[in-house]
Amino acid sequence: MKKGKVLLGVVVGASLVFGADKVVLKKPPESLKKYYPPKSQKFEFLSNMYSMSTSFYAVNLNINEGKWGKALEWAEKLRDTYLETSKMVPEWKDYFKPKLAEDFVKAVQSKNVDRVIEASKKLGQTCSKCHQDNQIAVKLVFHFPSFDEIKLEDPIEFMEVKTSDYMKKLSNSMKALKVYLTQGDIEMAQEAGTNFVERARGLRAMCSKCHTQKISEEAILGKAYEEALAKIEELLSAEKPNKEEIFKNLTLVGTTCTKCHNVHLIPEMVQEAFAK
Ligand code: HEC
Ligand code: HEC
Ligand code: HEC
Repeated sequence: MKKGKVLLGVVVGASLVFGADKVVLKKPPESLKKYYPPKSQKFEFLSNMYSMSTSFYAVNLNINEGKWGKALEWAEKLRDTYLETSKMVPEWKDYFKPKLAEDFVKAVQSKNVDRVIEASKKLGQTCSKCHQDNQIAVKLVFHFPSFDEIKLEDPIEFMEVKTSDYMKKLSNSMKALKVYLTQGDIEMAQEAGTNFVERARGLRAMCSKCHTQKISEEAILGKAYEEALAKIEELLSAEKPNKEEIFKNLTLVGTTCTKCHNVHLIPEMVQEAFAK
């Protein structure tokens, strides 16, 4: 028995994590857009990926159980999907080596385990090469809708602004609050603080433009966030506002901003870089 040996080759094929001392994000090709929202909800390209990966594993599984006939069926399915996928994105044609998919089928036909290992390694390398070059960028671009189209009503200036402009106004009023508090300009701090709190509350309207479940909104803009904003409001209305307490609550709010940025800002930054 040579159990486990074939697995090695398959692992190469489906490997997600790769060692590298440099990660480059290449702009995904135009024609890939066809297979993702908003153009398509079916994720056809990704779906072929899952199919190939499953077929790859199925060959391995069946060979390990001595079912060569079944293994051959899956190998042929893998080859067919591989060929079909090679035509989906013309810009990526050269990543695919149809001959290696054919060799893989022949290796399974030969019922020679060592040949199968060799052939699956070679085929698997074509998968890995493209993944290294493209997978991260594709995920960041196509799995997140753009914030570019999202508009928010600014509660202070009563106008609709883009997300990035809203963020600038929001963070500028937060900075102004900090500056005036530090300088001891209480009236100015109160005004900036009120603006900031209103804008921070206004952020909530944004979530439901993409999320259908309230729980996503609550996970970040939850009770602690509301309470910190209310506290800032209350502290600011005192005759001699307690600076330290205000800063403490601002830090709490800031943690919330960071949480949302950790989830949403990185894809948006990559998308914007490619849009320019
Ligand atoms: C959806 C969750 C979310 C929350 C909550 C959030 N942000 Fe943002 N923020 C974003 C996204 C997305 C961008 C990128 C917008 C773009 O460039 O189109 C951004 C960008 C920014 C920017 C850069 C603006 C620019 O273009 O120069 C600043 C500054 C900022 N946010 C501050 C804040 C502050 C301060 C808070 C909390 C009070 C906050 N954000 C809360 C999602 C969020
Ligand atoms: C020409 C480029 C290219 C080739 C060749 C390629 N892939 Fe992919 N693959 C991708 C891209 C891009 C993604 C990310 C797609 C996405 O997340 O929407 C991906 C994603 C995947 C995933 C899904 C990972 C996940 O969980 O999101 C699997 C599994 C996969 N590929 C298997 C394979 C196998 C097996 C082969 C070879 C037989 C292969 N791929 C060949 C580009 C390629
Ligand atoms: C432009 C669309 C968009 C907007 C606006 C948006 N999100 Fe998201 N958010 C996503 C996407 C896409 C994901 C990744 C998960 C997925 O694919 O559903 C995600 C993931 C999340 C997650 C983790 C997974 C989950 O679904 O719970 C949280 C929490 C979250 N967002 C909170 C927020 C909050 C809070 C806001 C408003 C301040 C917000 N989002 C605004 C698109 C958006």
